[in-house]
Amino acid sequence: MHWTRKTLTFAAALLITAFTFKAVAQSSQPEAANNKNWWRNAVFYEIYPRSFADSNNDGIGDLKGIIAHLDYLKDLGVDAIWLTPIYPSPQVDFGYDISDYEAIDPKYGTMADFDRLIAEANKRHIRVLMDMVMNHTSDKHKWFLQSRSSRTNPYRDWYMWHDGKGQTDTDKGQPPNNWQSDFGHSAWEWDEKTRQYYYHKFYAQQPDLNWNNPKVHQAFKDIIAFWLKKGVAGFRFDAITTLFEDPQMRDEDVLLDKDGKSFLNNYGDVALNDTRTNNLPEVHAVMAEMRAAADKFSTDKFPGTRIFIGETYLPNIAELLKQYGTPEHPEFQLPMDTQIGFINKLDVSAFRSKIENAEVDLGDNVPLLIFDNHDNPRLDARYGDGVHDTDIQRVISTMLFASHGASLFYYGDEIGMTTTPPTRKEDVKDPVGITGWPKEKGRDGERTPMQWTPGPNAGFDGPNAKPWLPVPPIASTINVQVEKSDPNSLLTWYQTLIQLKKTNPVFSEGSDTMLDTENTKVLSWKREAAGAPPLVVALNFTAEPQTVNLVGPGLPDGSLNTLLKTPGAASPGSLRSIQLGPYGVYIGQLQVMISH
Ligand code: NOJ
Repeated sequence: MHWTRKTLTFAAALLITAFTFKAVAQSSQPEAANNKNWWRNAVFYEIYPRSFADSNNDGIGDLKGIIAHLDYLKDLGVDAIWLTPIYPSPQVDFGYDISDYEAIDPKYGTMADFDRLIAEANKRHIRVLMDMVMNHTSDKHKWFLQSRSSRTNPYRDWYMWHDGKGQTDTDKGQPPNNWQSDFGHSAWEWDEKTRQYYYHKFYAQQPDLNWNNPKVHQAFKDIIAFWLKKGVAGFRFDAITTLFEDPQMRDEDVLLDKDGKSFLNNYGDVALNDTRTNNLPEVHAVMAEMRAAADKFSTDKFPGTRIFIGETYLPNIAELLKQYGTPEHPEFQLPMDTQIGFINKLDVSAFRSKIENAEVDLGDNVPLLIFDNHDNPRLDARYGDGVHDTDIQRVISTMLFASHGASLFYYGDEIGMTTTPPTRKEDVKDPVGITGWPKEKGRDGERTPMQWTPGPNAGFDGPNAKPWLPVPPIASTINVQVEKSDPNSLLTWYQTLIQLKKTNPVFSEGSDTMLDTENTKVLSWKREAAGAPPLVVALNFTAEPQTVNLVGPGLPDGSLNTLLKTPGAASPGSLRSIQLGPYGVYIGQLQVMISH
């Protein structure tokens, strides 16, 4: 990065900042550039449609409910929404078991509702992304019904069928190997009619597709084209690292604890490694093929880059880097960086090194930060201390929006919704919570209805309806209506941060450099972009007040223009002394240009 040597007075610097701000805002206007790069600094919002807003009082959220809240999302500053699956489904895995990829489940509405959602969202400059589940279908999908109808059916080879170990004409033997479902117990299900086992990484009602079959590839290219033609802005690819399995079908290794002993997981099974069933390299060619097919799409009606987001839980940054593909064979624009957001402990060193990994090791690729989703306990449960939860969520959201890259968050995070797991087994809706009870209570706790108002059913549903999951009592204080009018609420905080991310050029375009790198209590970094003074971010990861001095190489002392700070905190006089309250946040911009 090159800098011109300038020393400015405070007033002149402010003028320049204001000018740059305006210039960037205007230059992002030309539609072509905006359409091409819209995703690079974008704010994505995950909607779990079942739980977002119910327009017809049947207890289940729907598309009309989403449409009714698009203005809310626009005011929040959301660029795109990702809808978890809304296709027809027996709903064993609440939509991740798809029985028809080219229709809308009547529980959520009609195709006309969907078309209206796209149109209404686009009017508000919000793009819509669908979930694309390629690892498996529902066992009620017509492909699987055919496949299981006989060993000679043309669809037989669309799924993963195998004989059992020691199987005879009269004895089904044992499952072909020790592979386990992520949702507990053997990943092999016996089919009595055709006398073979089929493989399922998830529920038995979610048979895995056979990605060694080229017909499966073509089928998904057609499905992707179907939705792109409808105007969707892209897809989030579900469980994408599990498309392939070891062709030799070798057993997974048993995991050992620190004493060298095997142990049981939450389902009571011997815990196994997953090297034979996860992250096999063959997935890259598939994604490059899908991406090449999708890249062809841009219509006058729906212009703009169509993007691929990946559900990519990976062990390290090198593996994440591979998911972007190469310039010749691109794969995902935005594979999720789950290594940052799921550290699940406020550990300064861990966050510093993971955020730095994303900044340095991904090269020119854009990181996608994410801290929460519909599969994990919400932020309160993973990062909260029960006392300072709102302040802690300010810390988390600042990492999410004030770091370089795109940001993805989960409905309800912006108001601080809490995890509310079922307390009785008979109330559990998510089948994993039944298999694993009481150790594993399932994912109901993070899927409770969106809290819109302090009123009955939190405004998710009509007062006489019965939401599919209970509305937690805390909804009377944690809800959109109450927080909207409170300048100190978490909702206002999110809105302000998102606004900064999108309008301050250093936020939108800057790169991150960690500061004060020996500090184990406060995480600080600077953001820099050409043509504007740098800004600094400091986050207190502790319940005790902290003071940091961020003056250092390339960052001389100077007065700061505060952009955002924890409500009630004082503004620091200078970079030399930034005071932070318990879990305090400070973001400020230097008032002078830095010479380099
Ligand atoms: C990941 C999804 O996020 C989760 O909800 C689902 O159960 C599995 N993939 C299987 O599709």
